[in-house]
Amino acid sequence: MTRFKTLDDLPANLTGQVALVRVDLNLPMQEGRASDVSRVEAVRPTILELSERGAKVLLLAHFGRPKGKRHSTLSTSLVQGDLERVLQREVMFIPEVSGPVVAQAIGILRPGDIGLLDNVRFWPGEEANDPAFAAAMAEHGDFYVNDAFSAAHRAHASTEGLAHLLPAYAGRAMERELAALEQALGSPQPPVVAVVGGAKVSTKLAVLQNLVGKVQHLVIGGGMANTFLAARGVNVGASLCEHEMIETANAILNTAEQAGCTVHLPYDVQVAREFAARPESLRICNVHELGADEMILDIGPQAAEALGDVLKTCRTLVWNGPMGAFELEPFDAGTVALARMAAALTQDGSLISVAGGGDTVAALAHAGVADAFTYVSTAGGAFLEWMEGRRLPGVAALEA
Ligand code: 3PG
Repeated sequence: MTRFKTLDDLPANLTGQVALVRVDLNLPMQEGRASDVSRVEAVRPTILELSERGAKVLLLAHFGRPKGKRHSTLSTSLVQGDLERVLQREVMFIPEVSGPVVAQAIGILRPGDIGLLDNVRFWPGEEANDPAFAAAMAEHGDFYVNDAFSAAHRAHASTEGLAHLLPAYAGRAMERELAALEQALGSPQPPVVAVVGGAKVSTKLAVLQNLVGKVQHLVIGGGMANTFLAARGVNVGASLCEHEMIETANAILNTAEQAGCTVHLPYDVQVAREFAARPESLRICNVHELGADEMILDIGPQAAEALGDVLKTCRTLVWNGPMGAFELEPFDAGTVALARMAAALTQDGSLISVAGGGDTVAALAHAGVADAFTYVSTAGGAFLEWMEGRRLPGVAALEA
């Protein structure tokens, strides 16, 4: 595994130093408050540790996609309250990321105090990874900590550029995330099963291509399974299916076969003629018995049981994407059954389970098992790029 400097490599007493800490505060908002603060909870240990060790902690984050312009609706000041609630500490909002206003704020902060800089994406230099912009921010810090794995797939000034200008360290959340991912796909205990779901093959093509060469079992669920069923000659009726991806799906199936990776597709499914909760037309059938006007909306109970048996034979699980339209009952059944099986095996100590991605986290929370997995990543795009086997620029820049 690659070596990173961590907070353990810093002196115990950081009094008199300013820590520039990249965090991910891109929180889902509802009525002016964050509807989910797990990203703040994830960075809490790093912030409090640096503060307790006497550093002035300057938080650097993006919020939404303002595209290089100030937007009052996308100021990080909107999450200041959530931050204070989770940290149980006062946080000073600083409406800039560099220059005299920041310098003055640092003068006011006492050792151990916490400041929150404004949305770094208000400045075009951020996404352009402009060295001059990064240097202007670096001037205010003695060292840089990256605790935002979920933004590490962006080669931006605050996620990549800064790491080359200041002594750079992985924060506690980043450290945990990288250790978990290493355990899941870097050097996992075999056999490894990957569960990949979601609507479209096209958005997860690179993920599938990477996984078939690395895992012993690949479970494909969600809408994308329909495209694979169609590739195997199944008539999928009115189901969501990317007919233009059938050749690609076939190529993936062939590569999997050559690599010794068993691909699991559902053989019974929950179907309906309308996309609604508990529809009248709901029935469970074999994939070969689908009517022309019926849609596959979830895997069936036999498939869920068979997939559970696959999990029982494996030591490591990596999961991204739901098995069906889990937001509508009863099409959550397959995802819930599989999630609970994975959770039970994890609790028994027979499975190492790592899951990630927005929908996946929501699905595991819905199944009531998010805490029972070995590790659940709150990263979306970064988790997917990692599953594609790509080097994330924000992580690469931290390499010692
Ligand atoms: C996320 O929410 O996944 C991260 O904060 C990255 O956001 P972005 O896709 O706007 O770069």
